[in-house]
Amino acid sequence: MAETETETEGTPVKGNGNGRAARLLPPPLRRPGKPGSNGSGGSARVVEGAKDAPADLLAWLDERTSATAFLTGSLYRKVPKGTNWLYTLGSATLFAFVVQAVTGVFLAMYYTPSTIEAYDSITNLTNNVFMGEFVRGMHKWGASVMVILVFVHMARTFFVGAYKYPRELNWIIGVVLLILTMVMGFTGYLLPFDQRSYWATIVGVNINGTGPIVGPFLSDFLRAGPEFSQTTLSRFYSIHMMMVPGAIIALIGAHLYLVVKQGTTAPPWVRADTKPKSSRAEKV
Ligand code: HEM
Repeated sequence: MAETETETEGTPVKGNGNGRAARLLPPPLRRPGKPGSNGSGGSARVVEGAKDAPADLLAWLDERTSATAFLTGSLYRKVPKGTNWLYTLGSATLFAFVVQAVTGVFLAMYYTPSTIEAYDSITNLTNNVFMGEFVRGMHKWGASVMVILVFVHMARTFFVGAYKYPRELNWIIGVVLLILTMVMGFTGYLLPFDQRSYWATIVGVNINGTGPIVGPFLSDFLRAGPEFSQTTLSRFYSIHMMMVPGAIIALIGAHLYLVVKQGTTAPPWVRADTKPKSSRAEKV
């Protein structure tokens, strides 16, 4: 049916000719009326309009983005029977990642990725910047929390058999996310550039070098030359704050898309319960 314009309180809205669409749509932004035009005071009308403004703004956005349809589709999903707190670990990991991203942005405002200045910039951040020690502590402890959560989340998905058909691809994406989470921890450890982080990273890079076939290439790439140098620190910083977070964000997007599309896996004991107790054939 051809679309026509329907008039609602002076503002034209798209409709299908019978005015139904106009009634279904939230009230569009209204122009304040002239004082006394409808018997009530103009200021009362302005106050009413102001109260509706947030809802009107959301309706305006929703009409143009279909955000409600998207959010309803992704958030209002059926969850299987037997779902418990262990099923929240993926979301907890996501939250830990967001905390790392936000605190990391603030740390980057004060950090200098130079072999000479890195340590001093971090000392300054810890001792002199308002809430610096707190934000640094959140980032440092948050890193361990994220690593623990990602492992426990993986264990949950493994023990309910969520790696099986049709979720193999999501499991593989998860494995890459696990590796990238570890890379975040490894590359972040060098950044303070104190004695401990320097020597621990040398040990880590050497361990990488012992890997079969790709090991030596990997350690050369990480060291960015025959010795640890300014280029090594710059490379670690770039991997830590740009390359890996970008990849993690993209992969989390794909991971969640598949979770929404495929739903979550019921615990095996619940699935066993839902099998029919006896079939007609068995009775005969
Ligand atoms: C940055 C790391 C990760 C984030 C943010 C993340 C996030 C999530 C979220 C929010 C869910 C849905 C809720 C839930 O089941 O807990 C989920 C499900 C899933 N995740 Fe992850 N995940 C991560 C890493 C991993 C890893 C390391 C694996 C395994 C190697 C994995 C495998 C899966 C699988 C198979 C599902 C589907 C679960 C099911 O069908 O019951 N994820 N993930």
